[in-house]
Amino acid sequence: MRNSELEKMEIDLVIDCIRRRYGYDFGNYSFASLHRRFEQLRSAAGLNRYTEMVDKLFHDEDYFELLLRQMSIVVTEMFRDPAFYAALRETVLPLLKTYPFAKIWHAGCATGQEAYSMAVLLHENDFLARARIYGTDFNKNALDIAQKGVYPADAMARYGENYAKAGGIADFSEYFSDAYGLCKMKDFLGERITFSYHNLVTDGVFGEMNIIFCRNVLIYFDRELQDRVLRLFSDSLRHGGFLCLGNKETLNFTAVEDIFETVDAKNRIYKKIGDIRRAT
Ligand SMILES: C[S@@+](CC[C@H](N)C(=O)[O-])C[C@H]1O[C@@H](n2cnc3c(N)ncnc32)[C@H](O)[C@@H]1O
Repeated sequence: MRNSELEKMEIDLVIDCIRRRYGYDFGNYSFASLHRRFEQLRSAAGLNRYTEMVDKLFHDEDYFELLLRQMSIVVTEMFRDPAFYAALRETVLPLLKTYPFAKIWHAGCATGQEAYSMAVLLHENDFLARARIYGTDFNKNALDIAQKGVYPADAMARYGENYAKAGGIADFSEYFSDAYGLCKMKDFLGERITFSYHNLVTDGVFGEMNIIFCRNVLIYFDRELQDRVLRLFSDSLRHGGFLCLGNKETLNFTAVEDIFETVDAKNRIYKKIGDIRRAT
């Protein structure tokens, strides 16, 4: 047997250990990124083989916590990809404003910046009081930061530039208070957001949403898991609801492409126009 095949078998053992011992399933994460992260964790712990990692993971819960943090890339920004938010303002918001109430889900929200950006956008469209925003992630540390809504001032300066590029109409500093190099998002924004744990691999439908955002998350999954999660989103969206993906992700050639129409191809905004047909 070739070394690469042996290594693949060993990595499968690591995945199986994590699944059975801790209930997290990384079996359908893209192999390249999984391999890269496991490799870093193995060598950082001074282990020669992945089978040694199995032993350590099984008995050392702190090592598993380290792995979990490594598996969860929480890189994010407010108004990340400003052109996307400009498109949202133009295409989705005018329709949304005709609704009495809307539920919005940010799946894989990391430390919360995307959800706060949406709250700002809704506020500027006089819709925030009629909206409920849900931010979910499987990284509990990230959710703690999201809940506090406190970010470093230097990052906030960058977010302000994104906001302006996204067509922001106010002075961005109106949305946070600033003390000792840290900025806290204003309460009227946070009050409309609920942050909670949800694992896209193992948890179920998050119901009756008008908009779902899942940006820069599906890239870490293999094709099979992407399809499974996209079905979960379709089932969690109301008819006519919008699905927003990141600029590296697309619905083309996926299991749900036929039940969505493209609203903005460049900015990956889609509208649900049908339901998944299931065998009876
Ligand atoms: C790169 S961040 C994206 C943050 C934000 N959506 C954005 O585009 O700026 C990816 C997030 O996906 C989360 N994630 C990865 N796998 C997940 C899973 N199975 N269930 C829930 N969240 C997951 C990670 O914890 C991380 O916070």
